[in-house]
Amino acid sequence: MKLGINGMGRIGRTFFRVLWQNKALEQLKVINDIMPKTHLIYLLQYDTVRGNLGVKINETAGGIEVNGHTIEVHQHDRPENIPWGKAQVDTVVEATGIFTKKADLEAHLRAGVKRCLLTTSGGTDIPLYIEGVNEADYQKEKIFSIGSCTVNGTAPLVKALQDFSPRSLYVNVIHAYSSRQNILDSYYPELRRTRAAADNIIPLHINLDLSLQRLFPGMKDHISSITSRVPVPCGVLADMTFMLATPPASSAQMVEHLKQKQQQMARIMQVTHDPIVSSDIINDPHSLTIDGEFVQVMDNHVKLMVWFDNEWGFSNRLYDWSNRLNNIE
Ligand SMILES: NC(=O)c1ccc[n+]([C@@H]2O[C@H](COP(=O)([O-])OP(=O)(O)OC[C@H]3O[C@@H](n4cnc5c(N)ncnc54)[C@H](OP(=O)(O)O)[C@@H]3O)[C@@H](O)[C@H]2O)c1
Repeated sequence: MKLGINGMGRIGRTFFRVLWQNKALEQLKVINDIMPKTHLIYLLQYDTVRGNLGVKINETAGGIEVNGHTIEVHQHDRPENIPWGKAQVDTVVEATGIFTKKADLEAHLRAGVKRCLLTTSGGTDIPLYIEGVNEADYQKEKIFSIGSCTVNGTAPLVKALQDFSPRSLYVNVIHAYSSRQNILDSYYPELRRTRAAADNIIPLHINLDLSLQRLFPGMKDHISSITSRVPVPCGVLADMTFMLATPPASSAQMVEHLKQKQQQMARIMQVTHDPIVSSDIINDPHSLTIDGEFVQVMDNHVKLMVWFDNEWGFSNRLYDWSNRLNNIE
């Protein structure tokens, strides 16, 4: 299968590293981003969160070369202008954060790619498949989404708790800052996003609740979500409080239940009893890691604290999808 990536920001570049780490970079044929190639090479080589890539990236006339493998590089700002067809790319990973509507994604198809995978939830007209929840339902749609890091970091747990008939869920996603915030106070359309990301705890609205309700329609109108952006560059701790119709008798029973689920979803979800902090989750490939020390059952409520590396975990799900698509070609 031949892959392309549109948007070489945090997710595009992290996925590049996951492909490299898995010796699968030869799948990647074309990269597109509006930044100059010099900057792309520099940012692929060096990364504040991940360190040096560990292999030299060389510039070629039409792109870059890594360990003998060449990748075409383009700088188009519109999907319809990217020559996916000429390079016979099968799947484009759309990771600009700008082209999230179905009409925008159809432009990739017009440019010659067979399918387009969106790296955020998108609208209800874009099918949503989450690893560990409903990936087996994939109907070979040409345009689909694999959700966001946050949907991947929470939905498998909602599924794991279905045995206790969850009635409602409050989530506060305590999340690293992102490129959609400012480093110093300056203009941004959303007022709280104007504030310095590395100096503040910044609460924001998110639409995680809508994505979870699509996946679990039985909980419609009973899921509420916010995010608290905190001064770390990577890493998430999601604070999830469920109300359950049939709760387990104790916190210990809940931990046992989650450990059983972990065996069924080993690649996606794990339980840890190590006393970790956010930097310890960096480079963890799971979608979520449940903090076993903070599993609390009280009456009909359970509170769970869930860690994930918002970039690395999600990019490993992108890798899972590239393998799946390879097998169904
Ligand atoms: N970061 C995460 O933890 C994470 C996790 C899962 C999913 N996601 C989702 O993945 C998407 C990308 O997020 P990100 O954090 O990687 O964002 P990002 O770091 O801002 O990367 C976006 C990249 O696309 C480039 N770009 C902007 N306009 C473009 C255009 N018209 N054509 C081609 N490239 C263009 C940007 O260039 P400039 O910087 O020059 O604008 C940037 O290099 C978003 O939808 C996000 O919600 C993010």
